[in-house]
Amino acid sequence: MNLPKPIKFEVERYIGGLSQFKKIENPIKLSANESALGPSPKAIEVFEKEKNRISKYPESESNSMREALSQKFKIDSKRIICGSGSDQIFDLTCRLFINPGDEVIVTEFGFIMHKIYASLHKARVIFAKEKNFKASVEEILKKVSDKTKIVFIANPNNPTGTFLSKSEMLDLRKKLRSNILLVVDDAYFEFINSDNFTSGLDLFKDFANVLITRTFSKIYGLAGLRLGWGYSSKEIIDSMYQIKPPFNVNRAALAAGVEAIKDTEWTKKAIEYNTLWSEKIFSVLKKYNIKTNEPAVNFFLMNFDETKINSDDAFEKLAADKLILRKMTQYKILNSLRLTIGNKEANEHFIKSIGSILK
Ligand SMILES: Cc1ncc(COP(=O)(O)O)c(C=O)c1O
Repeated sequence: MNLPKPIKFEVERYIGGLSQFKKIENPIKLSANESALGPSPKAIEVFEKEKNRISKYPESESNSMREALSQKFKIDSKRIICGSGSDQIFDLTCRLFINPGDEVIVTEFGFIMHKIYASLHKARVIFAKEKNFKASVEEILKKVSDKTKIVFIANPNNPTGTFLSKSEMLDLRKKLRSNILLVVDDAYFEFINSDNFTSGLDLFKDFANVLITRTFSKIYGLAGLRLGWGYSSKEIIDSMYQIKPPFNVNRAALAAGVEAIKDTEWTKKAIEYNTLWSEKIFSVLKKYNIKTNEPAVNFFLMNFDETKINSDDAFEKLAADKLILRKMTQYKILNSLRLTIGNKEANEHFIKSIGSILK
């Protein structure tokens, strides 16, 4: 029979963090960089109330959210677009800028969705080498050609947990051709506490050739509702509105998101919690000779070259003790696992478990 034939895309499929492994009962998921404390109770409260309105479409341009973001970050609401996760903003960006054959630069171990969306929209994806799992401005610039359209950088990056300093980021923008769009993914910026670091939004809000993305999936604990946003020139944002799906952000996400950013006490608590536990876990990893990133995000990329077992064995043994980490196979990072900082019980369980595995 002659059947309808879909187009074949040469695109790698995203492999998410496992929430289940073999037949382990009640596993502890530390594989997706989700929030340890969950969302603000005020966000949950409005989420629950929203159930009475789900027969109605949500706002088509997320105006309540844009207004709230504009007030919080002192930015122009007309230059904000909200998406179903920051994921959707990467998709819209690639759709808006890439002609087949254009080049998009990502870093060697950069967040994989940047590369996936660029390929989906038929760009040639070019990888810039990293130095010690950190992006390098010099290596990115080496890869620029007259076909380069976009440079993507997550700062700090997932899964490496490293970041470029304020001066490195400014240097990158200065040395890139002005008609190359620099996309700065701020997904984890809230967790950093370093004088050396400035978020993409704070650095580039007045730049017409930078697009900044942010998410509600990490510090705000709303990964399941899918909410993210982008900030760029009015011209770019207007063009994105033209091509976005009509009701791309659901009403529960909008309601909960607005409350989440208002609840500054909860955000502060989540940041302090992360700082406390990232320092504790960092010292444990050091004690067992696991090489890792400095505490700056809500996860650690752990390398097992100097331990008595390799990362595959460590994964199996941790899983047998109910702890599910993230394998780094898709990123081609050898002998490594990524650990997300979890709640107190999960962290204590991990510390005990890794101690008995590596003792
Ligand atoms: C660097 C980075 N950017 C973006 C995202 C995705 O965010 P969202 O849930 O808003 O699509 C993630 C999620 O893991 C991430 O690690």
